[in-house]
Amino acid sequence: MKVSVIGTGYVGLVTGTCLAEVGNDVLCLDVDVNKINILKQGGIPIYEPGLEDMVKRNVAAGRLRFTTDVAESAKHGAIQFIAVGTPPDEDGSADLQYVVAAARAIGQNMQEYKVIVDKSTVPVGTADKVRAAVQEELSKRGTQLEFSIASNPEFLKEGAAVEDFMRPDRIVLGAEDARAVELMRSLYAPFNRNHDRLIVMDIKSAELTKYAANAMLATRISFMNELALLAEKMGADIENVRHGIGSDPRIGYHFLYAGCGYGGSCFPKDVQAMQRTAKEYGSELRILNAVEVANERQKEVLLDKITARFGTDLSGKNIAIWGLAFKPNTDDMRDAPSRVLIKGLWERGATVTAYDPVAMHEATRIFGNDPRLKLVDTPMAALEGADALAIVTEWQVFRAPDFVALKAQLKNPVIFDGRNLYDPKDVRAAGIEYFAIGRL
Ligand code: NAD
Ligand code: UDX
Repeated sequence: MKVSVIGTGYVGLVTGTCLAEVGNDVLCLDVDVNKINILKQGGIPIYEPGLEDMVKRNVAAGRLRFTTDVAESAKHGAIQFIAVGTPPDEDGSADLQYVVAAARAIGQNMQEYKVIVDKSTVPVGTADKVRAAVQEELSKRGTQLEFSIASNPEFLKEGAAVEDFMRPDRIVLGAEDARAVELMRSLYAPFNRNHDRLIVMDIKSAELTKYAANAMLATRISFMNELALLAEKMGADIENVRHGIGSDPRIGYHFLYAGCGYGGSCFPKDVQAMQRTAKEYGSELRILNAVEVANERQKEVLLDKITARFGTDLSGKNIAIWGLAFKPNTDDMRDAPSRVLIKGLWERGATVTAYDPVAMHEATRIFGNDPRLKLVDTPMAALEGADALAIVTEWQVFRAPDFVALKAQLKNPVIFDGRNLYDPKDVRAAGIEYFAIGRL
């Protein structure tokens, strides 16, 4: 099947590549010339395990191509995925300008029936806006062409994006006509072999499902984070509590880890956008207000622990940071807790030496060559002469350090662990002070 993907970011590139992998003829469009040039030269603009090889394989097979030519893309795919960004507006609601621009470009250039599918995370009612934009452009051309609108939100996780797309838990499809459902069903058939994972529903429910999933997961995490802070005060251990409640199948073990706050390109923005949409409908999700406040607070927790230990004036201190990405296996630092910690340390006069396996170029892009941040090539090099270590991302490489060597490198043997990586007994037995999240 011929497929066009508009927006070649995380979601667009993964979607396009995985659809090519199962045999479709895919054209990926982006307005970012630089991104398309990198892809045309055989590279990929993001770090995502397994993706680069898959891109290369499908480009070589002639099933995957990249372009900045809007007209070519609008003509190519019988299915047109819109996978552009929906960043927050000043008030937190989703900015739909890129989605609407993509819809207009399709309307301006399409020559025959298309299924136009929203894959971006968009508020309820966006499909109507997409339909109106396409219709308006067709009317301007004096053309009458049939098209269908569908909503197919994406649930992939960065760092596991290829696996999530190739073996989805579910494929949510909001569609209101049989022709669109049939085309989409055949497109997804290769991902849907032994067990029917396609859930077809009305468009508004599909749009809401995406926000509901992210808001539910963000709520779980914030709840665990608040419980962890309480456990600390009470002298209880959140890890014991996690085991105790996760064993209940109604609760389950996933997404129950307390830490230094959730980040990324989705949870923070989608929680905000959902609150704004609720407001537009004269409603309020009080729980989500609390989730957001709790998470902002949680991103300060490591800094609070550092100032409680060393005092509020940190001038002259150097703190080592392990992990800059918002989670492991990605170079993405959007809304990463590390950014809040680094800024807070700087405000109190400290300098930072940091290591991350893949996000260091992203840190340089964000912070420039600020002399208060030194980036080094190994975890151990970050510790040299540092006053303490703060762990922000749970990369595998941080899980089993040599505590004796670690102690020898630090000026003060103190670890502030924002991801609860170690057994506190082991760390303390090595003569290191250990502050984790909600642990004894
Ligand atoms: P991204 O910023 O990585 O990529 C978006 C791309 O769209 C950019 O390359 C941009 O240049 C391009 N673009 C913007 N306007 C365009 C236009 N008119 N025509 C062509 N290209 C255009 O964003 P992302 O992380 O891939 O997210 C895309 C959407 O998917 C968002 O709504 C996001 O909430 C949602 N989503 C993201 C994830 C994730 O983990 N990143 C997961 C699920 C859903
Ligand atoms: C999320 C959703 O999981 C995914 O379904 C959606 O499509 C996009 O948004 P992603 O942002 O890639 O995916 O990462 P995720 O693994 O969900 O982690 C988000 C944040 O929550 C990270 O900062 C992570 O460290 C944090 N987290 C996750 C916790 O603090 N505790 C947990 O138990 C799980």
